[in-house]
Amino acid sequence: MSKTAKLVLDGKEFDLPVIVGTENEVGVDITTLRDRSGAITLDSGYANTGACVSNICYIDGEAGILRYRGYPVEQLAEHAKFTEVAYLLIYGELPTLKQLLKFREDLTYHSMIHEDMKKFFDGFPNGAHPMAVLSSMVASLSTYYPESDEKAKDRNIIRLLAKAKTIAAYANKKTLGQPFMYPRNELSYCGNILQMMFAVPCEAYHVDPVLEDAMNVLLILHADHEQNCSTSTVRMVGSSQANLYASISAGICALWGPLHGGANQAVIEMLEEIHRDGGNVDKYVAMAKDKTSGFRLMGFGHRVYKNFDPRAKILRKTCDSVLERLGVHDPLLDIAKKLEEIALRDSYFVERKLYPNVDFYSGIIYKAMGIPTEMFTVMFALGRLPGWIAHWKELRDDPKSRINRPRQIYNGAGIRDFVPMEARG
Ligand code: ACO
Repeated sequence: MSKTAKLVLDGKEFDLPVIVGTENEVGVDITTLRDRSGAITLDSGYANTGACVSNICYIDGEAGILRYRGYPVEQLAEHAKFTEVAYLLIYGELPTLKQLLKFREDLTYHSMIHEDMKKFFDGFPNGAHPMAVLSSMVASLSTYYPESDEKAKDRNIIRLLAKAKTIAAYANKKTLGQPFMYPRNELSYCGNILQMMFAVPCEAYHVDPVLEDAMNVLLILHADHEQNCSTSTVRMVGSSQANLYASISAGICALWGPLHGGANQAVIEMLEEIHRDGGNVDKYVAMAKDKTSGFRLMGFGHRVYKNFDPRAKILRKTCDSVLERLGVHDPLLDIAKKLEEIALRDSYFVERKLYPNVDFYSGIIYKAMGIPTEMFTVMFALGRLPGWIAHWKELRDDPKSRINRPRQIYNGAGIRDFVPMEARG
């Protein structure tokens, strides 16, 4: 029997349908509430609001569970390649060998950007943040591929997945003042990212398998995370029927902020500051607990995970093995570990269920790989691309989807008459 919830407002009762998800998550459906009662719900920060029904990703924050299309992220990180996971997220099933080979061939075939687009990079100033470059370049792909009919949808998805990594690597080369490196068809998706970021024309470049594997795991762990800030942005923009490139470009901007994907850059900057300040971890833990300091422990806390972040657990191991195999001893990692140890037993963090999140370790791995700090959030964006695309596609394939348009409670001035300038003083 289907359940209902009851809302009593001004003595009137309203029955509201209850939706139960595959994993027994419960949602009270208020779709008709305003029409029937005149009232809306208020949920600033959307912590209690389900914006859609989705088949892509499942998270249980209390239990530390993350699954893509039903597959535990731990299994995907251990056994799959990023391109397989991208296919899974976008098309709903793991690819057969034939499907995967075709998908990879398409991604390889579309990985160069139009030569004219290289000129755009000349227009950006030298210190341009690569997230600004990435979002501008992704939006500008729509000027080269403006077709947005049903047939073009899949081609645009392939183009975006294939070209974003080339754009990201070019943004890095622009910052370094080095020549752009074209993608090489014999390399894997992750191998090509490394080659385009690190190779120089004057010498041979061999992809280090340790770095290639680490990149694969990092991209897989970032590939989707249901209705986070950037994915919700992609769905919000996509709901107006804006094209794929415009919608993803908006998602890239949302990811940039330090409370979201920008946290990986902020973590390293924080660790460097602590290091410069003599490595006094206790001082920074005390500051994080002091609300007047304006300081937070970057890489700690999560809106959804209140036990542990399963991605952080995997990355902690990857971090150790990458640093060991590369022979890197990074004092920032020692500070990070000390910070983690102190925070995990401090009652402030324990009571608020603040644990290291994915960004706490990813920054340290990127740094060991030689990726510049400003590129960290770009790497996150490359990983999140299949998730954003999958959500955009799910929304656009749903015949019942409507433009996203929240309401508000107005709390400003009541009606008043215009005051002429002379009377305003
Ligand atoms: N350091 C110190 N205190 C914190 C931290 C932190 N990193 N995070 C949360 N708190 C405290 C808050 O001050 C608040 O305390 P109070 O209840 O006494 O007022 C309590 O914990 C709850 O925090 P909120 O800000 O209400 O939690 P919210 O769910 O809104 O925010 C967020 C989650 C943005 C991730 C937050 O924990 C944060 O700012 N973390 C640091 C930035 C970060 O690492 N972001 C990456 C997130 S993961 C990702 O996007 C991939």
